[in-house]
Amino acid sequence: MRQVTVSEKYRTLATLASGIAHEIRNPLTIIKTFTEFLPQKHQDEEFIQKYSTLTAKEVTRIEDLVNQLMSYSKPNPPQFRTTALRNLIEDSLDVLSSQLLSRKISCLRQIAIGSETHVNVDPNQIHQVIFNIVLNAIEAMPAGGELTVSADLLSGPGGNRARLSFRDSGPGIEADHLKQIFDPFFTQKDFGTGLGLAIVQSIIENHNGRIIARSKVGEGTEMVIELPAD
Ligand SMILES: Nc1ncnc2c1ncn2[C@@H]1O[C@H](COP(=O)(O)OP(=O)(O)O)[C@@H](O)[C@H]1O
Ligand SMILES: [Mg+2]
Repeated sequence: MRQVTVSEKYRTLATLASGIAHEIRNPLTIIKTFTEFLPQKHQDEEFIQKYSTLTAKEVTRIEDLVNQLMSYSKPNPPQFRTTALRNLIEDSLDVLSSQLLSRKISCLRQIAIGSETHVNVDPNQIHQVIFNIVLNAIEAMPAGGELTVSADLLSGPGGNRARLSFRDSGPGIEADHLKQIFDPFFTQKDFGTGLGLAIVQSIIENHNGRIIARSKVGEGTEMVIELPAD
């Protein structure tokens, strides 16, 4: 069991609070401007057009943030079900195949797990894990590249484990940042929330698994997940 000191707890809380504040402030400014000027500008079609689109977009942004926060903060216990792991991986990748294609990313699947292999996981949560990781890989390769997804079974003294790996040919992550990528609200993207990998990590931990990120600047990034498979 990991020990968390009180000061560590407050630091996390402070990071969380400032992250939320930062994320909500920009959308609020836009919504506020719209409502403030609405009485005098309600006949200005250009204004209405511009701000109604913008406001809707910003409301969606807050909505997305709230949804992500909910799934991060509410420790949603996994609904464990006997699941065919291979199908789960393939289905999760299929959902993103058109995005991969349109971004000119070739996705190589090396799934050395047969469809008869079943594991005890929450399929929706593992789907979310795969989705978040692949989405990050897509976002890391705006000019195209390669994504290699591999999966195999390992046996060891602690029992059988399924190992999933997602390796991209993106720019990689500096060592200093690599330490922080699982922290809630750590993001290097203009419109990122920094919650994707925090959610991924909490899901994997709730499955008694583990996740490691390996990366080298100029070479790419690999996310490796291990899940109990007995
Ligand atoms: N495959 C990847 N390649 C490069 N950087 C990555 C990759 N995955 C994650 N990161 C880094 O980790 C940060 C945190 O990721 P995440 O928690 O999903 O939040 P977000 O995607 O909203 O920024 C990203 O902003 C990015 O800097
Ligand atoms: Mg992300």
